[in-house]
Amino acid sequence: MMLIALFLFAAHVFNTNADDAYLPPYIEACEFSNENLEQCIKEQIEKSLPEFTKGIPELDVPSTDPVHLDDINIDGNGLKLTFTKALMHGLKGSHLKEFKLKFDGDHGNFKLAFISNMSLTAEYEADGKLLILQIKGKGDALINCVNVDVEIESKLNQVKDNNGKDHLKLGTPSYKYKIEKTTFDLKNLFNGNKELADTTLQFANENWQQLMDDLAPPAIKQIVKTVVKAINKFFASVTTQQIIKGYSP
Ligand SMILES: *[C@@H]1O[C@H](CO)[C@@H](O)[C@H](O)[C@H]1NC(C)=O
Repeated sequence: MMLIALFLFAAHVFNTNADDAYLPPYIEACEFSNENLEQCIKEQIEKSLPEFTKGIPELDVPSTDPVHLDDINIDGNGLKLTFTKALMHGLKGSHLKEFKLKFDGDHGNFKLAFISNMSLTAEYEADGKLLILQIKGKGDALINCVNVDVEIESKLNQVKDNNGKDHLKLGTPSYKYKIEKTTFDLKNLFNGNKELADTTLQFANENWQQLMDDLAPPAIKQIVKTVVKAINKFFASVTTQQIIKGYSP
């Protein structure tokens, strides 16, 4: 989502080099020499986020809304809970909270914080005890997360491709997150017994924090990984000079 940040450095308007890769029109260049590089990129991220999350097929950049999640398996404290075919929606509506970049032309650090309302759709299977209540069922799941606040920090490096051209590359990110509130809707609990299902769902929603302690870490980890991968795909397809005007290593 937001790491997207970095690619915003774009600027193909000034490119006359026929070798240069395609750049989408919503990505404009920032000036390397300009002391406002950080601010310029921040504005670019805010502006192009909704488009970037759709992916850029011309550059092999995958869509990040929705993010396909690997299966999530929770098995402990007397509860077996799995989510399969999970999709996380909502990155395109993210609000940029903070963006920091230090880049000396060779190495850099960046920090990106954003807030989104995200929803997860999946197929779930549950069997066991949710704290004090029995839970059993299998069906569709819809999980709404309000104000998911994600902060990502990473190194930004300069690398050369096989042709000696410069590209940016994000290192392995570190991240943290906060979630304001989560609501669960699990269809077909207890084989459709409405009374049991309502009681259990209400209980789950009152105790959402405990459930999310297990559920959120694997989901957020994959979201961060997917976003960094999408940005690095973008960086691998365009040269540094294409997105930062006046850059020289
Ligand atoms: C998320 O939804 C809540 C309530 O619907 C709203 O107040 C908030 O501004 C939304 N947050 C974002 C990041 O869109």
